[in-house]
Amino acid sequence: MINIRPKAGRETCVPAAGAVLPVALLLGGTGLDYEQIWIQALLGVLVTAVVISAFAWRAYRKNVQEMQAELRLAREQTRQSERERDLAQGDLLLRLDRERELNQQKMQFQAQLADYEKNAALVQMALGAAHEINNPLLGILSHLELELKVAGPEARTETEQCIESVKRISATTLGLLNYARPDPLRVSRIQLPSLVSELLGFLEHQPLLRPLRIQNHVITDLPAIHADSQQLSQVLMNVLLNAAQATPPGGTITIEAESVPAAEAIEIQVSDTGCGIPEDILPHVFEPFFTTKRGKGTGLGLSISRAYVRSHGGEIRVESKEGAGTRVSITLPVRGQQPHAEVEEESEVVV
Ligand SMILES: Nc1ncnc2c1ncn2[C@@H]1O[C@H](COP(=O)(O)OP(=O)(O)OP(=O)(O)O)[C@@H](O)[C@H]1O
Ligand SMILES: [Mg+2]
Repeated sequence: MINIRPKAGRETCVPAAGAVLPVALLLGGTGLDYEQIWIQALLGVLVTAVVISAFAWRAYRKNVQEMQAELRLAREQTRQSERERDLAQGDLLLRLDRERELNQQKMQFQAQLADYEKNAALVQMALGAAHEINNPLLGILSHLELELKVAGPEARTETEQCIESVKRISATTLGLLNYARPDPLRVSRIQLPSLVSELLGFLEHQPLLRPLRIQNHVITDLPAIHADSQQLSQVLMNVLLNAAQATPPGGTITIEAESVPAAEAIEIQVSDTGCGIPEDILPHVFEPFFTTKRGKGTGLGLSISRAYVRSHGGEIRVESKEGAGTRVSITLPVRGQQPHAEVEEESEVVV
């Protein structure tokens, strides 16, 4: 038997095959006949070929395995790059979102600033106007009241109308003053359920509310809040009157309140089944002097209410659907938030 042990790979094939023939010729010199020599040589060649093929096959397998490993690596790298690309895209989207949010905030701040500037101008105007209007108005009113006492039946109606108008001007001026320079807060501990019941008890007898169904759903175990009871009553009164004015007879007004422990606040909601507010009007309802009640409203109710609620560190929102009704939500912090407020601690004020 010919025992050839090439080291490895294809490069060993030629030397191995070349080694077979001399070996066969050598054997011929040992007295074997040619046929045997050729058979042995052929066998040698075959064995060599088999060995070479085995090595070639091994080398081929190794190459294929290496290529498969490289392919796997390349696939893994591609997947990794795709993951990184997805992450980068996510990051980009987050940044775009953040930028949009910042832009929105910027626009809100600009709108607020414009609001504040408008309000500051209004304050100046209001203070001047109130001073100029109110004093002569009081004189006119007392004169008209004297006139009323001596007026005959015809002049009486006219004088009464004049008195009504003067009172309306006076109310508007006072509203303006309230809006421009609200009294300092007089904070006390308030039990909201009692305040609401007393307010509803008073309003129920008003002709405006009599044909309506009033539902008081304020739960009784609400925490006491620190607030100015006068201002809070006025805010609720404004909102309830708006609801009553918007709701036809037979309609319903509901007042609810619940605690929001996470925010240490109380949320009061007044909803009505009235005419609702058209979409184009809704953004203007808090603007001073904005009214749709021509000749009947001053348009100061909601703007004063918002000023009051904000001075307590709270917020007031209006949601509405035309034809379906309106809901006003007022959020007030339980502990209040008025560094300059006069605090009547522990005196439990109800209304
Ligand atoms: N519950 C409601 N339903 C329908 N519209 C409302 C409601 N509340 C407010 N509005 C709209 O908002 C406007 C502004 O309200 P706001 O209370 O500030 O002024 P007003 O009620 O018109 O006047 P005032 O309160 O001085 O009598 C109203 O004229 C009305 O168009
Ligand atoms: Mg009003």
